[in-house]
Amino acid sequence: MVASANHESSQAKSRTVKYRKTKASWNPAMQAVPIPGIRRMVNLAATMKDVIHLSIGQPDLPTPKHIIDAYVDALHAGQTGYTMDAGLPELVTALRDYYGKRYNRKLTRDNILVTNGATEAMYLAIAATAAPGRQFLVTDPSFLLYAPLIRMNGGEVKYVPTHVENNHQLDPNDVIRAIGPRTFALILNNPNNPTGAVYPRSTVEAILEECAYRGIQVYADEVYDHFIFDDDEFASVLNCAVDLDNIMCISSFSKTYSMAGLRVGWVISSQAAIKSLRRYHMFTTSVANTPAQFAGVAALNGDQQCVTDMLNIYRERRDKIVDLIAQTPHLNGYKPGGAFFAFPDLPPHVDGTDLALRMLKETGVCVVPGDSFGEGCTNALRFSFSTTCEKLDAAFDRIIPWMAKQNL
Ligand SMILES: Cc1ncc(COP(=O)(O)O)c(C=O)c1O
Repeated sequence: MVASANHESSQAKSRTVKYRKTKASWNPAMQAVPIPGIRRMVNLAATMKDVIHLSIGQPDLPTPKHIIDAYVDALHAGQTGYTMDAGLPELVTALRDYYGKRYNRKLTRDNILVTNGATEAMYLAIAATAAPGRQFLVTDPSFLLYAPLIRMNGGEVKYVPTHVENNHQLDPNDVIRAIGPRTFALILNNPNNPTGAVYPRSTVEAILEECAYRGIQVYADEVYDHFIFDDDEFASVLNCAVDLDNIMCISSFSKTYSMAGLRVGWVISSQAAIKSLRRYHMFTTSVANTPAQFAGVAALNGDQQCVTDMLNIYRERRDKIVDLIAQTPHLNGYKPGGAFFAFPDLPPHVDGTDLALRMLKETGVCVVPGDSFGEGCTNALRFSFSTTCEKLDAAFDRIIPWMAKQNL
């Protein structure tokens, strides 16, 4: 009796142990994946009626018709198989020619790898190089992908803060001061999400020069490189770097041509780096979506007036939101020069998450709290102006009187 009871209890124990083992089987790296604040807000908003979203990080403008046509034509032509692992040859050639001309840099097809959006490109760059003891410099605030990816892959994040008083410009001296013996790479996101800051040539060149001198890798995320509102030229790393030995330039079709859901991006780097990343890409996603790559060829080779038209619309919205933020009590704004985000501060002691949640519940306007983007900006809010001027007006018609009543 006793023996059988013991047997049962040991069976129960082994079941418990098995269960525990199953639960413990997640890779510990999963702990580095946060529950993004952006999701919390959007989930809550989904349960509410009459919400105005200033939270969205993707273009609202339609994909140009010639690009859609190329996608559909590719499907009808039976282009539904895998492409070459480096990308559809026509797309790799189009990217080589496009970038070679735009930045006056001699590129070969071996400098290019086509990926599933800039997200996969950044994933490959970080996952292929992060390791314990390797420190990555990241601006604070920064796009919410970078820090978790670095930590998931064993790397260490060191933040370099940017500030609203300085229009969230990145001071090259802050980057240089942050470099230490463990510094392995810098993530340079220009134009920046969430701040909309565009770094001028002098900043990019100073940073690249120092990184090249010290052998530090630079992973440049340039997905908003066409959304530049005030400057005549954009200082891409492809144009500013002496060579590509320590550079990976990452971009995609998502923003420029309103193709976020088609999932095509790329990395441009030295031939040696592309060779390694290509292997990793094969074992990660194999290839990017084939008809979407044909759509990409049409985007690059087609008339670029569609990009100019979109830029003009975003600029008009940028001007409007700058004006509306300036009229809003408690918000301390500035003029973002690119992308489609503004990132004004609240007074220093205010918890942006708490305020954003209350604002959503009480006004039905959804924005993203600053703590989604780093550690030092918990009193900031990200406003996306990837929405119409009418919606921006309607949102601030609610926000301004509500803010005026807050005793912050
Ligand atoms: C700075 C930045 N990088 C990368 C991405 C992801 O781009 P993709 O759609 O090409 O994966 C985004 C999307 O919001 C972004 O804001």
